[in-house]
Formats: sequence, structure tokens, C-alpha cells
Amino acid sequence: MKIGVFVHSKTGNTARLALAVTHALREKGHDVAVELLRPVGKVNPGSPHVEFRNLPDATGYEAVLVGGPIWAFSASPVVTSAIKQIPGLKGKKALYFLTSFLPGPVSGCKRAQARVSGLLQEAGSVVLEGCSLSWGLWCSKKRLDSAVEKICATVLGGAA
Ligand SMILES: Cc1cc2nc3c(=O)[nH]c(=O)nc-3n(C[C@H](O)[C@H](O)[C@H](O)COP(=O)(O)O)c2cc1C
Repeated sequence: MKIGVFVHSKTGNTARLALAVTHALREKGHDVAVELLRPVGKVNPGSPHVEFRNLPDATGYEAVLVGGPIWAFSASPVVTSAIKQIPGLKGKKALYFLTSFLPGPVSGCKRAQARVSGLLQEAGSVVLEGCSLSWGLWCSKKRLDSAVEKICATVLGGAA
């Protein structure tokens, strides 16, 4: 399967998850491209609109994974703005993954998942169940591997 991984990461945690997922999918024989979402200028949690130095295009992919950190109890505006602007999301399988500092219930991950699912639906994607990983100060290999496994199983949906 041809898969695009589009990720926003300020301090590297979500990028590490994205790269681990990419590696695992490639090991299974899939054709995976990773693109970092790179905003123009400084972005804050409340930024209403973000412009990009490189806007990925989902047209050539069968599935798209979009990842980013939780900021101020919701998805980073880099991710939400990107989804509104990325062409070619219609009809594509789309999965959102996030990392947070706080543990699940208090991190804002539910709110972020709901917000991003809504935006992906508006873009016409086939929205898959997302994945939230509480990173804290340090994430064990076991927890990272478990998130990778979950994401791979969801996007491949039995196709392995
Ligand atoms: C501006 C800002 C706001 C944040 N707000 C939250 C938050 O509301 N809840 C939370 O659990 N973590 C919050 N964090 C922590 C990040 O979500 C967490 O460290 C994440 O793993 C960072 O991902 P990254 O390294 O890919 O940027 C925030 C971080 C930043 C920089």
C-alpha cells in the first residue's frame, strides 16, 4: 500500500513515533513517504491559520497518517490547518496519531481526536480510529512499540 505520513513535531516526540511507524510499515513491504509539516513563522496554540513551507499532497496515496502533538488540550493548529489545506484527502483512509505530555484522560487527547476526525470527515476521508500516546518526559520502548502496532494494524486493516 502507498502510504503518506505527514507529521508536525516541535520537540521530536511525535516525529519519533512517526518514524517508528514508517519503519514498521516498510518492514511489512509497504511504500511509505514521510513529510514533516513545516509552518511559516512562529505558531502558538491559538493560531487561527497556519501557512506552510511545504504542503504535502495526499493525491498519490491510498492512506494518510497525520500526526502531531497536543497543544493546550487540543490538536496543534499546525495539524488542523494542514488538514484544511492538504489536497487529495477525499476518499483516502486517514488516521490521526498524537503525543501528549499528560496521561490520556487529562491531556486533551479526546478533544483533539474529535476535532481532527471532524476535519478529516469534512475533507471526505475515510476516518480510521486514531491513536494517542502519552509521552511524558520519556516513553518506554514497550509503550512506543504498542502504539506502532496499533497504528499499523488499523491502517492495514487485516491486509498486513
Ligand atoms: C505549546 C504547547 C502546549 C502543550 N499543551 C499540552 C497539553 O495541553 N496537554 C498535554 O498533555 N501536553 C501538552 N504539551 C506537551 C506536548 O503535547 C508533548 O510534549 C508532545 O509529546 C510534544 O510532541 P513533539 O515533541 O512532537 O512536539 C504542550 C506542548 C507545547 C509546546
